[in-house]
Amino acid sequence: MKTIYMTGKQTGWMRLLCAALFSLATLAAQAAEKIIITGASGGFATETIEALLARGVKPADLILVTRTPEKTPELQQLAAKGAAVRKGDFNDPASLPAAFAGGNRILVISTSGGGDRVAQHTNAFVAAKKAGVRQALYTSYVNADDPTPLSRDHKLTEEALKQSGLQYTILRNEIYADRMVEEGARAIAAGELASSSPDRHGAPFVRKDGAAAAAAILTTAGHENLTYDITGPELVSDRDFAAILTEITGKPVKVIVRPVNPAFGSPKEGHVSGVIEQLTGKKPTSVRELLTANKDKLLSGAPPR
Ligand SMILES: NC(=O)c1ccc[n+]([C@@H]2O[C@H](COP(=O)([O-])OP(=O)(O)OC[C@H]3O[C@@H](n4cnc5c(N)ncnc54)[C@H](OP(=O)(O)O)[C@@H]3O)[C@@H](O)[C@H]2O)c1
Repeated sequence: MKTIYMTGKQTGWMRLLCAALFSLATLAAQAAEKIIITGASGGFATETIEALLARGVKPADLILVTRTPEKTPELQQLAAKGAAVRKGDFNDPASLPAAFAGGNRILVISTSGGGDRVAQHTNAFVAAKKAGVRQALYTSYVNADDPTPLSRDHKLTEEALKQSGLQYTILRNEIYADRMVEEGARAIAAGELASSSPDRHGAPFVRKDGAAAAAAILTTAGHENLTYDITGPELVSDRDFAAILTEITGKPVKVIVRPVNPAFGSPKEGHVSGVIEQLTGKKPTSVRELLTANKDKLLSGAPPR
């Protein structure tokens, strides 16, 4: 039998080749993974789906679960391209096994339709585990540790996810900056901005940027059993918000103090995590950039609530 001897240099090349083949195999395996998105007709879901497609995920590798598959034309268009669009409602656990069948990773979007949210989210985790899903992402809240009803639901959901047996990745989302366009238009029309904590700083993020971060997690490895704070790129108080509105539009906006909403409480001072840029390689949009890009809307009068 002929023995093959390799020099140190050749062994190095072989190692490199094996590593490259292994990486390719891993990528191929990951590419073939099926990603479930719940609440697929909602805003965060829609933007995550767009970001996944932009990252090269094939529609055929998407399982899009919604309570209203027939009522959403965008989902029907994705179905025509090969995505599985299925009916699933967290209030109806019996609907979930068929909805989640064949999925490897799942993005569980926190619900907004009322009812017991902790029970709804827990139903989703239990069904995902039974369906053989490996990893679950959940859209939590950056202030989930606060003693408010909103935070409590997210905190209890996080605990249910950690106990589910699924690998978890928790997205502790800051407040969406998107709402500041409508809020800004109202403030400009009224000449005043009502705030319960005008000098508290938060780091709101544009929802599309947060969705891009979720898509990055859903398509790469190394995020198992981690919690990420998803924030915008800078701290902004409501007083800053009013000043930016005036700067962009030339219209005066006075800040007036209103009582605290007990559902939200008085959140602690925010922080900038840098996670969106780490995950996507792109600096997230700032509040000033968002508002500047929407100057016409800011000046078009108060939108209806
Ligand atoms: N960070 C923030 O500032 C902020 C602001 C608002 C809301 N949120 C939270 O973040 C979530 C996503 O935000 P978004 O902008 O995408 O909200 P959205 O457009 O209002 O979407 C609401 C989502 O809730 C889903 N849903 C409601 N009831 C459900 C149920 N019984 N079973 C399964 N899914 C259910 C809907 O799914 P289908 O209709 O497709 O079934 C939809 O995806 C919200 O639902 C809310 O929990 C965060």
